[in-house]
Amino acid sequence: MELNKIYLGDCIKIMQDLPNGSIDLVFADPPFNIGLKYDIYNDKKSYNEYFEWSEKWISEAFRILKNSGSIYIAIGDEFAAEINIILKKAGFNFRNWIIWYYTFGQNQRKKFNRAHTHILYFTKDNKTFTFNIDNVRVPSARQLVYNDKRAHPKGKSPDDVWEFSRVCGTFKERIGDHPCQMPETLLERIILASSNENDIVLDPFGGTGTTAAVAKKLKRNYFTMDISESYYKVITQRLNGNIHEIKRNGLERNTTNSDSLF
Ligand SMILES: C[S@@+](CC[C@H](N)C(=O)[O-])C[C@H]1O[C@@H](n2cnc3c(N)ncnc32)[C@H](O)[C@@H]1O
Repeated sequence: MELNKIYLGDCIKIMQDLPNGSIDLVFADPPFNIGLKYDIYNDKKSYNEYFEWSEKWISEAFRILKNSGSIYIAIGDEFAAEINIILKKAGFNFRNWIIWYYTFGQNQRKKFNRAHTHILYFTKDNKTFTFNIDNVRVPSARQLVYNDKRAHPKGKSPDDVWEFSRVCGTFKERIGDHPCQMPETLLERIILASSNENDIVLDPFGGTGTTAAVAKKLKRNYFTMDISESYYKVITQRLNGNIHEIKRNGLERNTTNSDSLF
């Protein structure tokens, strides 16, 4: 297993080559099976095909995680319930059902705007796992509003509803023509809470490489991959610090695609 490397290919096959119990943290943002336009991946599979495929990659994630390891899966409304069940059936222990409220949902005319994604947080063991609360504390109302002496001076554990803006098509941090780039701030919270420096963070669905970029910044080892060659190149350039190259190579944002998830 070569660390701090980006792989091109199918995540199930790549994970199958990894040893048992070798990874500290998995963050996965799989395609949601909602018909989103990726360059080569077909995001509209039958219910059974998507369910069975999810079972396969989640059971590989279980096998490669250390006993002290954690997994976070971002998923849309359509399959959140199913992924929750698959995680439990694979042997994981439930910790939190986090709602990422992203504030910048695309405007809808005939329904309420969609402005959240589910993040399911599970651990392999139900007692022994990494959770660095001091890395992720946030100011509490006890401190700020009530001046309550019982308040922890460094703040409280974040609630399970997280507010981070999504990376909209027009934002300057948007990289290449990928329909669903995650914000670095969200990955920072997860990686800081559930891993330590020099740990190994794996993302099976690299996309634009947000997880690997944040892991690198926070001095963790990364291991990531994507099935698309053009996204693989984007990740490689991002990790090499050549974001401007992504644009020069003709992978500029396509605004018709850039907000299509929402
Ligand atoms: C929701 S996006 C991930 C976005 C990523 N979190 C980011 O911040 O950029 C899902 C990615 O999974 C990739 N993908 C789909 N099937 C795959 C597979 N079997 N193996 C590896 N990557 C896959 C798609 O090409 C797509 O880039």
